[in-house]
Parts: sequence; C-alpha cells; structure tokens
Amino acid sequence: MQTIAWTQELAVGVPAMDESHKALLKQLEEALIAPEEDFAQTLSLLITQIESDFREEENVMEAIDYPGIQVHQEQHARILGGALHHISSRVMEGDVAVGREAVELLPRWFQVHMTTLDTALAFAVLLNEKESREASADCSAAEFEGVQQWRDASLQEVVMHRPRNSPGT
Ligand SMILES: [Fe+2]
Repeated sequence: MQTIAWTQELAVGVPAMDESHKALLKQLEEALIAPEEDFAQTLSLLITQIESDFREEENVMEAIDYPGIQVHQEQHARILGGALHHISSRVMEGDVAVGREAVELLPRWFQVHMTTLDTALAFAVLLNEKESREASADCSAAEFEGVQQWRDASLQEVVMHRPRNSPGT
C-alpha cells in the first residue's frame, strides 16, 4: 500500500496552501489505515477535506485571475466529481473494497498534483504578491513625490506673499 506523509519536498511555498495540504494528507492517511467499520466515515471526512482544499485554491485562482484556472479546475473536478463522489456512493451502499482501491490510488495522484499544478499555482500567487508589494511601493513613492511638490509650491507661495515688514525680511 502506498502512503503519503507530508514532507518539505511537497511544500509549495505558500503557507495557506501548505497547511491545507498537510491537513488533507493527514486525513488521507487516516482513510488508508481505517478499519472496515470506520472506512465510510473516514472517506466522507477525506472528501470534505479535499473539497475545502480545492475550493480554497479555486478562490485564489479567481482572485488573481490565474491563466491556468481551467486546466487546474478540470483536474479537481475529475478526481472529486468524476471519481470520489461516485465511489463514496458505492461505499455507502456497502462496497468498501471499491472505496479502498480508489483511496489507495490517491497518494500518487496528490503527489503528482501538488508537485505540478499546485506548485505552478503557488508560483503565480507569490509573483502576484510581489507585484502587489511593488505597486504599493510605487504608489507610496508617487504619493511622497506629490506631497513634496505640494510642500514646495506652498513654501513658494508663502515666500511670495510674505508681508514686507514681517520678521526676517
Ligand atoms: Fe490543486
């Protein structure tokens, strides 16, 4: 049986994504070792965790207008809607064996998904954060320049309109 434990090699570098992946893999591990009588419940919790992880990623993709959103969403939908929801129904009907077979394929699927599509998404998120910081710094610089110009103009106005008999003239 292939298992998958969290290691630093699976880190994508975005803390929220890494935390979500850690929780997901922990739940996957629980499903892999669950005894027969707990399997259906554990599988249900795993699917909930996967749904949450996928939703978070898809929200991020929309927020940053990610160009790879369609391919990434399709992969999510294929494993979740196309496979796991269908298998979950079979398990609920008592076919635990088919559920176990499916769950045993997930470590490999997640390893590939996290090290390819999720890593690419994380790169885009980090790039987006960097660009936002730089845009904000540029904006602050422009604001500072604007304040300086206003200050210089104000000083000039004060100098031009200073009464002749004011102190220091
Ligand atoms: Fe993903």
